[in-house]
Amino acid sequence: MIQIAPSMLSADFLRLEKDVDMVNEYADIFHLDIMDGVLVPNLSYGFPVVEAIARKAGKPLDVHLMIVNPEKYVERFAKAGASMISFHLEAMDRDGTDTESVLDLVHSFGVKAGIAVNPDMPVERLYPFLDKADFILVMSVFAGFGGQKFIEDTFSRIDTLKKEIDRRRAGCVIEVDGGVSPSNAASLVRCGAGILVAGSSVFKASDPAAAIAAMRGIQ
Ligand code: DX5
Ligand code: ZN
Repeated sequence: MIQIAPSMLSADFLRLEKDVDMVNEYADIFHLDIMDGVLVPNLSYGFPVVEAIARKAGKPLDVHLMIVNPEKYVERFAKAGASMISFHLEAMDRDGTDTESVLDLVHSFGVKAGIAVNPDMPVERLYPFLDKADFILVMSVFAGFGGQKFIEDTFSRIDTLKKEIDRRRAGCVIEVDGGVSPSNAASLVRCGAGILVAGSSVFKASDPAAAIAAMRGIQ
């Protein structure tokens, strides 16, 4: 069953409680984007916002770490209430960090571990980790900003990855993030996506609940 994860980056921060209530009622997961201005050319929010959302969240928190040295902050995000934490393979390459050890660290807090990749990372680079990672976050835009245009090549990337996951009989779920909307949701699910992250298409919609329903395939 497809899960919809609204990205709180596009929420109304002045009226965050209203948007948290909306996700609690209509969606499945809170997607929280953490940016450091180093791995990606933007800053977002940090622990106070995540902890505030955690206090009201009735659905799991999915923390997407777009930061260098993600292992430094895994424990704090786990303690802040994350049920899922992903980090970028690009950060591992940059820092020279062992990817498996970070997956193990996330697991040591009882949190689901995911690896995120930008659109120019060959999906084959993920194959060694498919038996250990709980999910793969396939970026369908370059990480850093909400509201970007969906990159069409994502369909074939997900298709390739899904075939490899199935071939290995691995339980790894594919999450897609960036430019996801009711217009591409069905095709993404057909290719093998299990979690759809959506920021602007939910929070900028006149009716966020209807946008979420449309992505589930309910008109
Ligand atoms: C971008 C973030 C996304 C972003 C998605 O780097 O990872 O989660 O909020 O926003 P939309 O759905 O507007 O592309
Ligand atoms: Zn994200």
